Amino acid sequence: MPLDPTPVPNELRGMRIALLISGGIAAYKVVDLASALTQAGARVRVAMTSSAMRFVGPPTFQGVTGNPVATGMWAADGSPEPHVFLGDWAQVILVAPATANVIGRLASGRSDDIVTATLLAARSPVVVAPAMNDAMWAKPAVQENVTTLRRRGVTVVEPETGHLASGHEGAGRLAGASTVFNAMVHAIRSRYDLAGRRVVVTAGGTREPIDPVRFISNYSSGKMGFALAAAAADRGARVTLVTTASHPEHHGIDVQRVDMAEEMLAELRSQLRGADLLLMAAAVGDFKPARTAGHKIRREETPSLNLELEPIPDLVATLARDPELNMVFRVGFAAEDSKLDAKAIEKMKRKGLQAIVANDISRRDIGFGSEYNAGVLLFADGSRHELEKATKREMSDKILDLVLPHLKR
Ligand code: C5P
Repeated sequence: MPLDPTPVPNELRGMRIALLISGGIAAYKVVDLASALTQAGARVRVAMTSSAMRFVGPPTFQGVTGNPVATGMWAADGSPEPHVFLGDWAQVILVAPATANVIGRLASGRSDDIVTATLLAARSPVVVAPAMNDAMWAKPAVQENVTTLRRRGVTVVEPETGHLASGHEGAGRLAGASTVFNAMVHAIRSRYDLAGRRVVVTAGGTREPIDPVRFISNYSSGKMGFALAAAAADRGARVTLVTTASHPEHHGIDVQRVDMAEEMLAELRSQLRGADLLLMAAAVGDFKPARTAGHKIRREETPSLNLELEPIPDLVATLARDPELNMVFRVGFAAEDSKLDAKAIEKMKRKGLQAIVANDISRRDIGFGSEYNAGVLLFADGSRHELEKATKREMSDKILDLVLPHLKR
């Protein structure tokens, strides 16, 4: 029989999906779901109850997902708390098949195995796809548990009516793949409004070498770029952060370290293919040494040192001229000490940007190195939005709220 050809919706591609499997005969159908999701580019990690493992072996799921399967409260490598890892990692959780037992334990807040413990440790939307005998599904106890889960925000996918493994006809068959996928998309849509998007963010000050131990740079800490990357990743985007700085670990951010402006440009050229949005928060230098000494320049060698500097080409303006990359919506950042709007609008035009965030560096309480920022977001269509003083993370979410309606579908 051919594999279920159900197409996987775009929103699920690239998502981190935890698939929790409990002990029902329908577990075999979930192998196809796991395989389809993985082939569509989702990252799938499976956890199984002990009775699920009597229906399908963990190696099958490991084989189709390419990831180890959690089968107990202790990871195979001895590290504790795989449920906390999975709960943190997942952007959406699917429980399929969900037995009456797992639905009951979830409703009563138990955490006595890897599946229920992961559900309690979850931070993501949860979709439950029940499958069981029709009499079990119809029992008031089960229906009340389902109502409780729905009231708490869990999406429960109605099982289908038809032939059941018990030989009966009735409601209790695991819903079809497209119904399950649609329920997942629905559950994630409000939380992950950037699902299916590729976002590239730059951060930090570029470093231009004078000799092997010295460089010219600036005070940019990279915090604004990191905050933008984290906000986009938490909203479901696949994010690449091209940066000169060091940042905390964050799920969903692929970090590409660079130093010089030239390296940043080369990295951007490859990362921007197929991307939807560029957030150019890096403080790219305007000048670099015309020559880099091959050895450490010594005080004894020279009574004084004159550095000849040459201009660095504007990276965003260069990218804007590339016909293969200029489809990407480009947001620049401008640090200004006076006439914020006028200077930012002029920069937006000159650099071929669709929007620009201008912030006032004459204020001591915001900007470079600080946890806070404030400014104004200007679009090429003439609209203007004040960005009140807020943490860099809050400001990032505000910027994404305002930019999102401008992105092409
Ligand atoms: O001209 P100014 O440096 O204020 O412009 C800031 C914006 O332009 C930022 O988005 C920055 O990343 C970008 N930029 C660039 N290449 C440069 C200098 C700045 O892409 N050489």
